[in-house]
Amino acid sequence: MMESYFAKTLAGLEAYLEEELRELGAKEVLAEVRGVTFKADTETIYRIHLCSRLTIRVLKDLTTFFAKDPTDLYQKAIRYNWKKIIDVDGTFAIGAVTTGEYFQHSKYASLKLKDAIADHFRMKKGRRPNIDVKNPDVQLHLHIRDRQVTIAQDLTGESLHHRGYRPKNARAPLNEILAAGMLKIAEWDSQNDFLDPMCGSGTLLLEALHMSANVPSQWKRDHFAFMNDVDFEEELWEKVRKVAEAKFIEPRVRFFASDLDFAAIVQLKSSIKELPFKANVEVKTGNFFELEAPGAPRFIIMNPPYGERIQTEGDIMDLYIEIGNELKLKYSGSTAWMISSDLKALKRVGLKPEKRVPLKNGQLDCRFVGFNLFKGKRKDQLQNQGE
Ligand SMILES: C[S@@+](CC[C@H](N)C(=O)[O-])C[C@H]1O[C@@H](n2cnc3c(N)ncnc32)[C@H](O)[C@@H]1O
Repeated sequence: MMESYFAKTLAGLEAYLEEELRELGAKEVLAEVRGVTFKADTETIYRIHLCSRLTIRVLKDLTTFFAKDPTDLYQKAIRYNWKKIIDVDGTFAIGAVTTGEYFQHSKYASLKLKDAIADHFRMKKGRRPNIDVKNPDVQLHLHIRDRQVTIAQDLTGESLHHRGYRPKNARAPLNEILAAGMLKIAEWDSQNDFLDPMCGSGTLLLEALHMSANVPSQWKRDHFAFMNDVDFEEELWEKVRKVAEAKFIEPRVRFFASDLDFAAIVQLKSSIKELPFKANVEVKTGNFFELEAPGAPRFIIMNPPYGERIQTEGDIMDLYIEIGNELKLKYSGSTAWMISSDLKALKRVGLKPEKRVPLKNGQLDCRFVGFNLFKGKRKDQLQNQGE
């Protein structure tokens, strides 16, 4: 049976998530602000959890109604068939967001919903499920805008940016969903060798490798909130996993990544060990400016220091000028993509971007820019600095 859902994502990735969810079998898919609404059956929901690279979490719409005050909310919520969602011996929690003049206190609204659920169970079963705010079996979301009340269930649990392929103590790592989104925007098509010469903990390489090998983003994860559901279909889940695993392919291109930071490379190597394909991957400690020029065009993508998050020696402006010179000198024929919040420094790269996409890296407003490093005279590539 098709039900209605909302998949959350990062700002700027909505249209890409819309396309991805359609490919994964969702219907009536529509991009909204920081998310996508869609309809899907259970199998598709399992597939989205296993394979989506751009979803943060999936919320299932349970019920929507109008309520004029908290008492009205209680009276309408108590009628919903909560036994379908929550086991009387299980636990639940409620997060609430309210806007508008009718419900000004989100905590009070969520208390009324909690009372309605507890009383529903007391009336039907003589006892009620417990609240567990830290690790509930069922996490509910109460959203009230003016008088419109929507109650949704979080099917995901821990955010899907946790792919499970690396330790959690990485220094300033790029969000995995942002990295996957950058690769979609850059149209990474596994046709040229991949290079991230300032790879840090290697998020871009790891996401690119997963994409090229058709390995699901959540291949390492074994628990999602929907598995606590009263009607979780374990056999269907196993089938979805098996179908996805049968589609693994050995990537034909090679993957290179390097960084000045030895510790980051050690960490990346341990993440790579977790992957099914690692034969075509070369990762090493090294300075971008000392790498040998490749013999063939590459897909280059990098997340250089911005200054705000990572203290680097020397001047950020000089670093970006040098990056531009290096790209022009050694990588003609390649394409190069860079993300940075330092718009002034990005101009110092001295190349004319083919594409500029606004993205957010955490709280930082960034630009993700793509350059074609055409073969030919260097002066033809020089950017008009006013651009
Ligand atoms: C913002 S971090 C990259 C984070 C990375 N995308 C990740 O997923 O963790 C920038 C990286 O550039 C590296 N770096 C700075 N200058 C470099 C250079 N000349 N050659 C190689 N790496 C450099 C730093 O060591 C740092 O790890």
